[in-house]
Amino acid sequence: MALFPQVRPRRLRRSDGLRRLVRETRLSPEQFVLPLFVIPGRGQKQPIASMPGVFRLSPDLCAEQARAAKSLGLGGLLLFGVPPEKDATGSSGRDPQGLVPQAVRAIKEAVPELPIATDVCLCDYTDHGHCGVLRNGTVDNDATLPLLVEQALSQARAGADIVAPSDMMDGRVAAIRRGLDEAGFEYTAILSYAAKFSSSFYGPFREAAQNSPKQGDRKGYQMDPANGREALREVALDIEEGADMVMVKPAIAYLDVVRAVRDRFEVPVWAYNVSGEYSMIRAAATNGWIDGERAMLETLTGIRRAGADTVVTYFAAEAARLLAGA
Ligand code: PBG
Repeated sequence: MALFPQVRPRRLRRSDGLRRLVRETRLSPEQFVLPLFVIPGRGQKQPIASMPGVFRLSPDLCAEQARAAKSLGLGGLLLFGVPPEKDATGSSGRDPQGLVPQAVRAIKEAVPELPIATDVCLCDYTDHGHCGVLRNGTVDNDATLPLLVEQALSQARAGADIVAPSDMMDGRVAAIRRGLDEAGFEYTAILSYAAKFSSSFYGPFREAAQNSPKQGDRKGYQMDPANGREALREVALDIEEGADMVMVKPAIAYLDVVRAVRDRFEVPVWAYNVSGEYSMIRAAATNGWIDGERAMLETLTGIRRAGADTVVTYFAAEAARLLAGA
């Protein structure tokens, strides 16, 4: 291999034009999916204190947001329900007239071509805040599965293109696939949160969705942050069960997992740039400690460079706007 002074890597870094020419990883808006939190009513918009710039929205305002997402060229939306009333089995999440189905219908009417994914999990709808139903104080895996299937069906019936189970119950992808197929929804796709870690970075989301577990934590079903090999096993199982796409979550502290999944599997890989990752950059930028815009684009570039095809991010609209201006 030739060496200095024949070789000078700096030759290709001399100008914006050259750097742009040899850039390996590019960002574009269709790679970003924007999460939305749905609340009841009309014209309702509530700020989320720990996530400046993010709001809970009523279905009509979700549709408005969807129009903006379309004009920015975003890849799609991911919907979470924030119902005022919760119960032990999360029944409002299965209601065909529930918040997420209402928002899906409103969005599909406004912007039919924009892909919509919906979160499938009990935690936003249960009074105890866990992702499944409880028996003797622990989350009962098998009793939760039919409830997840019913929730996914209510979303598919409303017109969701993609259902995204984030509960981490074993066997739920197969159960949801079977339930969708039996009901005639063989073209509704499943995005599985295959490698979802038990993470401190979900903190602000739990304020946004008001879904903190009242007792205990999620370590009995979400993954141990120390386990990379187990993440690959989870992904393999979910693909075997019928997942069309898989997600790694959170993103920043798990980029090795994103890369390993990308290298080993052929399905589209998503990474979730979660609430805590968003709020850290926002907070530091507000304090003047970092350049928020640069930190945002650098983070998104890193997640893409690690191998994610699609990034779920609260920065989606802002990043798209910046890229369009650049
Ligand atoms: C659970 C769920 C969580 C997130 C999305 N779906 C986290 C949790 O409370 O376990 C977190 C997303 C984020 O932090 O942005 N169904």
